[in-house]
Amino acid sequence: MLPLTDTYQRKFYYLRLSITDVCNFRCTYCLPNGYQRNKDRASFLSVNELERVAKAFGQLGTTKIRLTGGEPSMRRDFSDIIAAIHQQPTIKQIAMTTNGYRLAKEASHWRAAGLGAVNVSLDSLDARQFHQITGQNKFSDVMAGIDACLEAGFPVVKINVVLMKHITQQLAAFLAWIKHRPLQLRFIELMETGEGSDYFAQHHLSGENLRRQLLQQGWQLAQREPDAGPAQIFTHPDYQGQIGLIMPYDKNFCDSCNRLRVSAVGKLHLCLFGEQGIELRDLLQSEAQQASLQARIQSSLVQKKQTHFLHQGITGMASSLSYIGG
Ligand code: 5AD
Ligand code: SF4
Repeated sequence: MLPLTDTYQRKFYYLRLSITDVCNFRCTYCLPNGYQRNKDRASFLSVNELERVAKAFGQLGTTKIRLTGGEPSMRRDFSDIIAAIHQQPTIKQIAMTTNGYRLAKEASHWRAAGLGAVNVSLDSLDARQFHQITGQNKFSDVMAGIDACLEAGFPVVKINVVLMKHITQQLAAFLAWIKHRPLQLRFIELMETGEGSDYFAQHHLSGENLRRQLLQQGWQLAQREPDAGPAQIFTHPDYQGQIGLIMPYDKNFCDSCNRLRVSAVGKLHLCLFGEQGIELRDLLQSEAQQASLQARIQSSLVQKKQTHFLHQGITGMASSLSYIGG
């Protein structure tokens, strides 16, 4: 029975839980016009509702939850959310993905509340270009935030870099940066989203070239851990840091899918791309509904498709990844 398993025998230990759509950055590939308030949308899940999501998934074999957004730390009750999920005995790891703007101040508090791992988005090592990409002049705050994570003793600090054409010129600088820092630098191929087709055509850079360069420079592909995500991990004897390469357009990418997603308004999404989501919120209103909630999650899994349809240019409902957190 456990953990949740789909028709293709993929096992789901990992839940990505979005807690807000709101973001204060305007990354060119995600929210180029900034976050647009939508008066009609439902309110975001409360701490109690989030706790019930965590409990249900935990009982179904989930061991890791990543808090995403939007920008998860836009929520004032963010520390309470971490603490509530931390109380679930089956959830061994709580992670977050953040744009980093509050890390310098908050990293140690979040660590104390139970956060175990942080992924920080950083698309350029040049302050001016960082500003251009994110719409925020906060390069040094984010860099200070990354150092604060290392100081706070987070065992895992990963940096997300979306692979775009300008990265080619910055590769040497990025590599020098992780020579003496235990960071995992993850290059993620730009994905096409509903709102970003022209952008995609202009900026998309395949990871293939980067892989070749890394191998030439003595980086070695590490063995895949059985419960690892879709990243290919490279290590190098002269570097403290590691490199991860995420290529969603690679042909076997979906075979290793081990994650499910819940949106900030309580819908279960079986894939980042492709469907409207299955309502869970009506079953998040009391503890007495746990059995029905778990049954609904379990029975929904048969609908999970073998792969996404990005190759056919079908990007599904994901108009922007800020909706269900990448
Ligand atoms: N393609 C690839 N990654 C994306 N992200 C957001 N939008 C996209 C996209 N279109 C990822 C980035 C960012 C994280 C929050 O989501 O890695 O760091
Ligand atoms: Fe905000 Fe993240 Fe989207 Fe950038 S990528 S606009 S930080 S949600």
